[in-house]
Amino acid sequence: MTAALSVTTTDQPFKKEHVQLLFEEPSCCGMTIRNLSIHAKKKTILTVDHLRLPKTGVVAIMGPSGSGKSTLLKALSELQDENLVHDGQVDITCIDTNNECESICSHFAMVWQKPTVFPCSIWDNLKVPLRKRKVERKEWRDMMKYALEQVGLLHELDEDWAKQRAQRLSGGQQQRLSIAMGLLKDSNIFLFDEPTSALDPVSTEKIEKIISGLGQTKLVLLVTHSLGQARRVSDYCAMFHNQGDKGCLCEFSASDEFFQSPASPQSREFIMQETGV
Ligand SMILES: Nc1ncnc2c1ncn2[C@@H]1O[C@H](COP(=O)(O)OP(=O)(O)O)[C@@H](O)[C@H]1O
Ligand SMILES: [Mg+2]
Repeated sequence: MTAALSVTTTDQPFKKEHVQLLFEEPSCCGMTIRNLSIHAKKKTILTVDHLRLPKTGVVAIMGPSGSGKSTLLKALSELQDENLVHDGQVDITCIDTNNECESICSHFAMVWQKPTVFPCSIWDNLKVPLRKRKVERKEWRDMMKYALEQVGLLHELDEDWAKQRAQRLSGGQQQRLSIAMGLLKDSNIFLFDEPTSALDPVSTEKIEKIISGLGQTKLVLLVTHSLGQARRVSDYCAMFHNQGDKGCLCEFSASDEFFQSPASPQSREFIMQETGV
């Protein structure tokens, strides 16, 4: 039996060396976060002193509820909460920022726990990123078909898929449509916040395969409550914990090392609670 997710009793300060700086800047590093702190009116929600992420690969972000995992993804994305104060520095090197008209956020693709497709046809959903990128209309259909194929949707849909309403798709298919939109956005960084927590095992397996594939050429940040999922798809693990009432990054390491011998007491406790071992 697995223990409740929300309880972590370890409140010892973590050691900085448990957050390994594995990637040299700027050659191997895709994103560096320095002195990030996110505050609400009455409390600090999250601090990350120094985190270097790779240019490509899947990074599993884990930790108890309330430790700031979703807040971190939102801070990086277009959905930054305007009621929060964000301090610190995020350097992103794995995107091409030559086009100054584009906001940095346009390089991120996001897939949330609940599917977030627009209430219109599959075509109208997929055309959003293409329009933003000013892709010529005559290229749209082929590009859409390619993206749908990449996420395994093309052969699951009828010939008239373009007219089908996106919200009629199953939850797993909607998640994969969101990923297809990210591909059409030509994003180099994919942010996933518990993308499979509401899905059946078959849909989960399909999404995990896609996430692993994306990690070959892109940076993928995956918030997950499933240790099994982190083991299956991640190359690196970032562990958050609750220190007092704020979330902190307490460990970052390669996944093999993380699962074999977690360095921080917080990670050991989290793994123990999740596996009961
Ligand atoms: N806009 C906000 N104002 C105040 N507190 C917030 C706000 N957004 C998030 N929080 C708080 O920040 C903490 C971390 O939330 P969250 O990032 O959702 O955690 P996680 O995803 O790790 O479960 C929670 O205690 C949450 O209530
Ligand atoms: Mg969350």
